[in-house]
Amino acid sequence: MSTKRFEGKVAVVTGGASGIGHGTVRRFVEEGAHVLIGDQNIDAANAVANSLGDTVFAKKVDVRIESEVSSLIESAVEKWGRLDCVFNNAGFGGALGPIDQTTEDDFNVTMDVLFKGVFFGSKHAARIMKLQGFGSIVNTGSVAGIRAGIGPHIYGAAKAAVIFLTQSIALELAETKVRANAVCPGYIATALATGRGESNTDRHLMKFREVCKDMQPLGRTGEPEDIGNAVLWLSSDEASFVTGQAIVIDGGLITGTAWRDQSAAFTEANPIRVYRPDDV
Ligand SMILES: NC(=O)c1ccc[n+]([C@@H]2O[C@H](COP(=O)([O-])OP(=O)(O)OC[C@H]3O[C@@H](n4cnc5c(N)ncnc54)[C@H](O)[C@@H]3O)[C@@H](O)[C@H]2O)c1
Repeated sequence: MSTKRFEGKVAVVTGGASGIGHGTVRRFVEEGAHVLIGDQNIDAANAVANSLGDTVFAKKVDVRIESEVSSLIESAVEKWGRLDCVFNNAGFGGALGPIDQTTEDDFNVTMDVLFKGVFFGSKHAARIMKLQGFGSIVNTGSVAGIRAGIGPHIYGAAKAAVIFLTQSIALELAETKVRANAVCPGYIATALATGRGESNTDRHLMKFREVCKDMQPLGRTGEPEDIGNAVLWLSSDEASFVTGQAIVIDGGLITGTAWRDQSAAFTEANPIRVYRPDDV
């Protein structure tokens, strides 16, 4: 009888009611884990939990509030007696528009959800994992935190901060065998990406997939499970020597543009020829 990779293990996933979080919860459950979803949308979180069976529960949390985040993580330990993975993933698009029209309130709420929420989740995961002497913290960054121009200003800055914090704590926690890594998704078909929020429908997602498929070299949008698979790998024993990394999962988006496409303009004027060592 084969044992599943996460049999008997425990994961906490924030933002697990939708999109990437939902896809990751599904993958954890398929691999045998017990999962506690923390999400501000408790109705959607409960619906996800109910659809995935009796190893998944949901708790209402606003990741901007430290006491709610610490209580979420403690609940998982009280329920199942250990903590293998905390995936700090809850998020939204945040402040939009030009920098000179970005208000302080919009700045604050964006940083609070995207950065402070990850700080709280990392802090309280570390508190428990250090005592255990094992555990994996995975934080959701973004390609927008690596390359300017992909996401809105404050969103990108918050994601860059998430990546830096993850690397910084990875160094501190390494001596306790606790690992911390970030995942950096490209365009993933979720409610956040379509910009439709709760009115998101399969039709909006289909349209988003169609519009974005040529923007990433692999010729499709990412799906939540693409990120979930990376989170599971990072949290598995197979990644026991991996910490402080920001793993990009973007179908090649930020790797660059194929030489074939870049060179098209000037090869029209200068037909392609092969340079040989004796040319010089
Ligand atoms: N979809 C993409 O293309 C993409 C790309 C890069 C990074 N990301 C990141 O992935 C993460 C998940 O986004 P998604 O695309 O799955 O979006 P989504 O809207 O489908 O899911 C986000 C979830 O987070 C929850 N949430 C939002 N604010 C919260 C708060 N304050 N407290 C608790 N829960 C809260 C929402 O209720 C929702 O269930 C985010 O951090 C996002 O920035 C997404």
